[in-house]
Amino acid sequence: MTTHANVSRRRLLQLSLGGAAGLLASPALAADPTPVQPEGPFHPLARARGANGSIVTQDRRLLPYLDQDSDLTFVSDEPGAAIGTQLIVTGIVRDENDLPLAGANVEIWQACVSGKYNHRSDPNNEWLDPEFQYWGRATTGADGRYVFRTVVPGAYRASGSWIRPPHIHFKVSRLRFRELITQMYFEGVSFYYANRFYPAEVLTQLNLRDQILDGVPAPARPGVIAKGRPGRPGENVPDGLQVFEFDITLKAIQRGPDDRPIADDLTRLLPV
Ligand SMILES: [Fe+2]
Repeated sequence: MTTHANVSRRRLLQLSLGGAAGLLASPALAADPTPVQPEGPFHPLARARGANGSIVTQDRRLLPYLDQDSDLTFVSDEPGAAIGTQLIVTGIVRDENDLPLAGANVEIWQACVSGKYNHRSDPNNEWLDPEFQYWGRATTGADGRYVFRTVVPGAYRASGSWIRPPHIHFKVSRLRFRELITQMYFEGVSFYYANRFYPAEVLTQLNLRDQILDGVPAPARPGVIAKGRPGRPGENVPDGLQVFEFDITLKAIQRGPDDRPIADDLTRLLPV
């Protein structure tokens, strides 16, 4: 049930700014869904056609560990910790009415500090950190919040003149909502590329030139670039780690009067 108590402050602000006209036009109050961005080729599980034409899932990882939790800074069968600047990535998953969504599955994958993915298709000639997890999963709590601990990924060359800025890939799913695939970027951190660390000013330039980030509509771009802040009292953030907030808004699957998904969404279920 929707009550004033669980409507976020942001929504209340929109209500007060919207005035009487805004209250009548309820769709205008909705939060925009987080922009979709390409999945890219380095998700650890690739879908392919099997011998009989069925879809099969192939594990494309190079390092053979099974750790899939929300702390990417170590793996259970390695003794040490991942190399690089550790950080907390957290945010709230909401619906278009700004209400938090419990039980959403949040999956992330990224390069290690060197800019290398744990994936057979990554052509970059960089080293893999065996103590980094590369891929993790979390489920949102009653407040819609997910939390990951990871490191700042390295930048990597995507083509002759294109260097991708550090980013984390996200895949977010929840019953009755469209699966969202997107990417999160950083502001204000140093990062590694080709044998050295670069300062935050260079990161700003890389973000400005990135072809995928450039494809995000300009008004939505600040929402996918996270800026670090210190942990707050009660947050249980380890000393010295910065917190990067990335909130996500999912788009509901539209349903007809019989509660079945309408045609727009059914087309997504057709075989590829
Ligand atoms: Fe990537």
